[in-house]
Amino acid sequence: MTPGLAALVDPGIAELRARIASDEPFVVHGVGASIAELVALPFLASLDALLDAWPDLVNVHLPDVADEASTITASPHDARKLFANGMGLLFDDAQRYAPRLGPWLDAIRADLGLSALTQQRCLVYATPAAGGTAAHFDQNVNFVVQLHGTKTWWLARNTHVTQPLTRHTIGQPVDPELSTYARLPMPDELPASRVEIVLEPGSVLYVPRGTWHATRATTAALSLNFTFSPPTWIDVFTAALRSRLALASGWRATAAPLAIASFDALLRELADEAPHWHAADILAATEGT
Ligand SMILES: [Fe+2]
Repeated sequence: MTPGLAALVDPGIAELRARIASDEPFVVHGVGASIAELVALPFLASLDALLDAWPDLVNVHLPDVADEASTITASPHDARKLFANGMGLLFDDAQRYAPRLGPWLDAIRADLGLSALTQQRCLVYATPAAGGTAAHFDQNVNFVVQLHGTKTWWLARNTHVTQPLTRHTIGQPVDPELSTYARLPMPDELPASRVEIVLEPGSVLYVPRGTWHATRATTAALSLNFTFSPPTWIDVFTAALRSRLALASGWRATAAPLAIASFDALLRELADEAPHWHAADILAATEGT
């Protein structure tokens, strides 16, 4: 099969589409031939192979929080020792060193109908036995391909915030902007509605944006993630608006509080213009279509 969403979750594409529509996680087990070229990538054959081939620093998750919020970087040589001491490793932007991953990222993004401005990357997580992540949610969309070992995931719908613009880890301070639109206080543990999913080699998990999750590896585990951070309407509109305003010397003027009358005039001008704006024109500029 050609790279893409259907191959990634073969034969579960119809059910995945339904879960995406209802914003629910989805797992399929026993994916094989359709992702054979991913599983066969030499540097994903084992953690040792990955550490031997990795030409960059590795992110190491410190044991205090067991979360990306508490990370150092280390050479592959040191990372091997830290892993042996129970710390999880993250190999970021893995598509830089495995060009075959690029077409998968592009095809999955296109199949999801996401913007060309989406930030997309492959992450490889190595988790020692009994290691895992603290409960948190992310602002991105994530597909997890379990390569080696067994890892349990707990996932729960997020009733404190929809469409989050940033991540949050339970027990950590809440991002100031997030606190303006989330229902606070945040929970102090995963919601009781959580479901448990055990990933084995060949399991592929879809984690919708904002879903609470925590993980724990039963054995040493290696997983390949396809992660997408699409722009929001806020991003598209503010980028377009900035381009438009930059054309006018009045808007480029220094914001002097005493010149509030000028600012008012600019706002009135903008309000007169706004009824003539069309989404298609803005998207044509931002998507390059
Ligand atoms: Fe996460």
